[in-house]
Amino acid sequence: MIQTLEWTEQGVRFIDQTKLPTEETYLTCRTHEQVADAIRTMVVRGAPAIGVAAAMGIALGVKSSKAENVGDLKREFNAICDNMGTTRPTAVNLFWAIARMKEKFERLRVRPVAQVKQALIEEAKRMHAEDIAANQAMGRHGATLMPNEGGVLTHCNAGALATAGYGTALGVIRAAVEAGKKIHVYADETRPFLQGSRLTAWELMKDGIPTTVISDNMAGAMMRQGKIGAIVVGADRIAANGDVANKIGTYMVAVLAKENGIPFYVAAPISTVDMACPDGTRIPIEQRNSREVSHIAGKQMVPDGVAIENPAFDVTPAKYVAAIITERGIARAPYDESLRKLAGIDVKVEV
Ligand code: MRU
Repeated sequence: MIQTLEWTEQGVRFIDQTKLPTEETYLTCRTHEQVADAIRTMVVRGAPAIGVAAAMGIALGVKSSKAENVGDLKREFNAICDNMGTTRPTAVNLFWAIARMKEKFERLRVRPVAQVKQALIEEAKRMHAEDIAANQAMGRHGATLMPNEGGVLTHCNAGALATAGYGTALGVIRAAVEAGKKIHVYADETRPFLQGSRLTAWELMKDGIPTTVISDNMAGAMMRQGKIGAIVVGADRIAANGDVANKIGTYMVAVLAKENGIPFYVAAPISTVDMACPDGTRIPIEQRNSREVSHIAGKQMVPDGVAIENPAFDVTPAKYVAAIITERGIARAPYDESLRKLAGIDVKVEV
């Protein structure tokens, strides 16, 4: 099993995703600042993994605090949470994880310092375990939507590497394959950071799931040629109306899917649904360094002085989304109703 991140006595251990697919190396962050840097520099990436990493980073910071009373510990804790919140803006799982750690601290404030520290570590570990369980549940629900055989296209990496394990979109594919479906994955390479060719292809190959990498501009032609029976992607934030922020290029895939009559599915945990965000126009989109576009493997590909844009995410309007697969079941349009039910308490789900 791929260990994307784990809590160890020495610190938080990550597989270094910037080195894949050619080097499988691991990095142990011993301070919360190092964890924040690992998120910023994409050593760890993918919305659910970012959330769990942040929680573990916060627990790590609290663990090494010298505070002698809970009031002082709380001040340090808040500063650590603030810093974690500046790492990446789009994936709401980061803010969800920070809020959950804060709620936990609130409930513990009458306890001795040592107990608070231990309980925060346990909470972060629980989030890790819950994320894997959520992905497996998502897989069970989503597998029913996958074709019995043929091509399934995915964009970016929404796999084990983007989560605590198993994956969201790739979890759905894994579960479908485990159920005996003969799926062949088409992985968009996903310029500029190449999460598809470097990460999705790497982890599917490890699992022996047949995969073909295509450059992003080939997806439309593959759909038109009838090679793609379904599309499944992950999400960084889903607005209350069902608009989906995901890796740049997802919108293009969704529109082409509609044009070609192919169902476009989104798989994401409930922690990715931001009920406070009414629609996609309110989702903050991270702008990354222009060098990711201008250079490939260190070689300059754009003339000096030319303007470059590098938005890391785009928003796919809800009208293009055939269904949103969550650990609590499958939501369909109208999403403002179905997501509210799934995010709420009493839920009658489709599967
Ligand atoms: O910039 P990244 O690599 O963090 O972007 C990741 C994605 O866009 C994923 O599709 C998304 O986080 C879902 S991961 C289960």
